[in-house]
Amino acid sequence: MCKCEARTHQFLLELPKCEHHLHIEGSLSPSLLFRLAKTNNIALPSTEKDESFASPEALEARYERFVSLNDFLDYYFIAMSVLITSSDFESLAYEYFTRAHKDGVHHAEIFFDPQAHTSRGVAYSTVVGGLVAGQERAERDYGLTSKLILCFLRNLPVESADSTYKEAHALGHFSNGTVAGIGLDSSEVGFPPELFREVYESAAAAGIRRTAHAGEEGDHTYVSRALDICKTERIDHGIRLVDDEALLKRVANDKTLVTLCPLSNVRLRCVTKVAELPVRKFLDEGVRFSINSDDPAYFGGYILDNYCAVQESFNLSLKDWKFIAEGSIEGSWCNEGRKKVLLEKVEAWALAWKEMS
Ligand code: HPA
Ligand code: ZN
Repeated sequence: MCKCEARTHQFLLELPKCEHHLHIEGSLSPSLLFRLAKTNNIALPSTEKDESFASPEALEARYERFVSLNDFLDYYFIAMSVLITSSDFESLAYEYFTRAHKDGVHHAEIFFDPQAHTSRGVAYSTVVGGLVAGQERAERDYGLTSKLILCFLRNLPVESADSTYKEAHALGHFSNGTVAGIGLDSSEVGFPPELFREVYESAAAAGIRRTAHAGEEGDHTYVSRALDICKTERIDHGIRLVDDEALLKRVANDKTLVTLCPLSNVRLRCVTKVAELPVRKFLDEGVRFSINSDDPAYFGGYILDNYCAVQESFNLSLKDWKFIAEGSIEGSWCNEGRKKVLLEKVEAWALAWKEMS
């Protein structure tokens, strides 16, 4: 847990936040997983096969020992098999929003993985119906606004991404705003962004927002290929950007939002500690970035824990945090009116904490 001094913790808690990199299936905690497995009568792997499934506590302990992205993904895909009904998805989303609200999140743009559900017989409309119900409750109860980002699993055939995209289109989910944009996740190395060029081109032509995981385990060329070939407007993770100075400057110039996930990068061994992340470098070069939790139930913390971890490693100033907060708002996909409201909240926060500068 966070080692922040109390005053610093309060300063970061009150900072108005936007979260842009959160896989809703990655907020499924071991305790909820065991509960839903029982309710929905879903068999988990036997303990002869994997003793981590002996109890929620054993699973929590296993999550502390991931050795790579693929090692994590094996657990992630097994766990989400307990999500069956619309109400499961609604509860999952509402519980995440409740937690995010407590951490000072005002706007969240969350990923979901439809192929991981349709492939096991759960309909796309069941998933989206539940998530939308959770979004509506969170906006009503907390004033927390949110958007959905439909992610394609890059390790599955491109045809599967195409048919998922077409299904969302046929339901009018892009044109009516139910789904704000598309993303690309799952195993990165060996599955470069250009495999999905056509679907990204179609989305760009239709004015659909576009992001992609790139430069998490993959090298910096995954980032340039996502930008050049898929015309993504955002980069998820993007930590390998530091290996190409010209690319880094281009991302800064274009104000492309990079969605960093510090605790995730440590748990998945992309870095050995948060201090290795390019936070200071991004600030010095003017790269716009946000700080996010990725899969909080797996990586040892929600968004505020990630903010605290960054502060412990980098000791940022009020000016630095204001830059991060403003970039997070400007890089969001909400409308200008909502951005203005959020920017005013940041101004009020900075005034209230001016002695921290
Ligand atoms: N990377 C790639 N795919 C993912 C992740 C991640 O961190 N989390 C859930 N799916
Ligand atoms: Zn991610």
